Amino acid sequence: MTPERPHSTPRTGDPSSRLSIDVRREPGDDHSERDELRAALLGDPPRIPSKYFYDHTGSVLFEEITRLPEYYPTRAERGLLEARAAEIVETTRATTLVELGAGAATKTPILLDAMEAAGRLRCYVPVDVAQSMVRHVAEELTGRYPRLEVFGIVGDFVEHLPELPAEGERRLVAFLGSTIGNFGPEERVEFLSHIAEQMGPEDRFLLGVDLVKPAEVLHAAYNDEAGITAEFNRNILGVMNRVFRADFELDAFEHRAVFEPVERRIEMWLVPRSDQRVTIEELDLVLELPAGRGILTEISSKFDRASVAAMFEGAGLTLDAWYEEDPALVGRFALALGRRRDRISPSGE
Ligand code: SAH
Ligand code: TRP
Repeated sequence: MTPERPHSTPRTGDPSSRLSIDVRREPGDDHSERDELRAALLGDPPRIPSKYFYDHTGSVLFEEITRLPEYYPTRAERGLLEARAAEIVETTRATTLVELGAGAATKTPILLDAMEAAGRLRCYVPVDVAQSMVRHVAEELTGRYPRLEVFGIVGDFVEHLPELPAEGERRLVAFLGSTIGNFGPEERVEFLSHIAEQMGPEDRFLLGVDLVKPAEVLHAAYNDEAGITAEFNRNILGVMNRVFRADFELDAFEHRAVFEPVERRIEMWLVPRSDQRVTIEELDLVLELPAGRGILTEISSKFDRASVAAMFEGAGLTLDAWYEEDPALVGRFALALGRRRDRISPSGE
């Protein structure tokens, strides 16, 4: 079911009347997902798609990561949003915020407050695989903003990025937290192209990206002292055990996060300390992992303005604005604002 357009006269009163949740799919639901996972596990190197991090436990652990002293991206992005939200709302004139991979949406109110202050806030559309997060966020935000309509979508933003809801509104499509860095180079251009195709000429796209910086800083951000990132990484095996009836022994795997300077990305691995034989009932699969044969669970690519501009270009987007922290601080994080490239003009601008 596709959410309907928001009503032209939003209702106030009972917050639940302004809220709807559309569950498209949950991880592990169908055959194509099992085939995808099987192919990933049997790949070289073996992989587990990173959307499986985010069961309820994983989502809570990720929120803990965002508060770690070493994990600067969330604080840096929040600071940027606080400094620039009014300007972003002013230039985009958005009435609807669509947020991909919204998670706990802790930075979202900065944008929603700015939209409200400008008298334009109508609709919020969080999209995430984590059902408990989408429900929680939808309830919290309809309670907080008395006229806001929330259309939550539970699903995989790659597989079924739906027709973006709220057509006819001026939409700001936000993809924060540098989640774009979790795609490979071709995948991310393809993903952005898909978004661009669904955007109207008045819609705008807001992307949060983590920037290339000294390896020590990056290393610390993904190898925290408290070991929360290690716990988050291992939790993906717990999800495999529960959802796919596997028997991974979590403690037999070591968390490893390394910066690869050529690809300019952090790679997150789970490396078995001894030979492992894992049965995955739901996949009818027995996986042999010799000691040291790691599973790649995540990549987190780092960007600069030129690489973002090139990625936008490849995806049919125009980079309109680039917001970075005070360069004196050595920019750690950036926000990129774009629009769909004009498809009509045959010879460019
Ligand atoms: N935007 C938040 C959360 C970032 S973590 C922030 O900036 O802090 C990445 C989020 O994307 C998680 O909430 C996760 O559940 C979601 N996610 C990851 N892969 C996804 C996919 N394939 N489809 C939909 N959501 C996904
Ligand atoms: N998008 C976040 C990032 O790339 C996700 C993330 C942070 C993450 N820490 C992690 C993913 C640890 C896996 C493991 O920074």
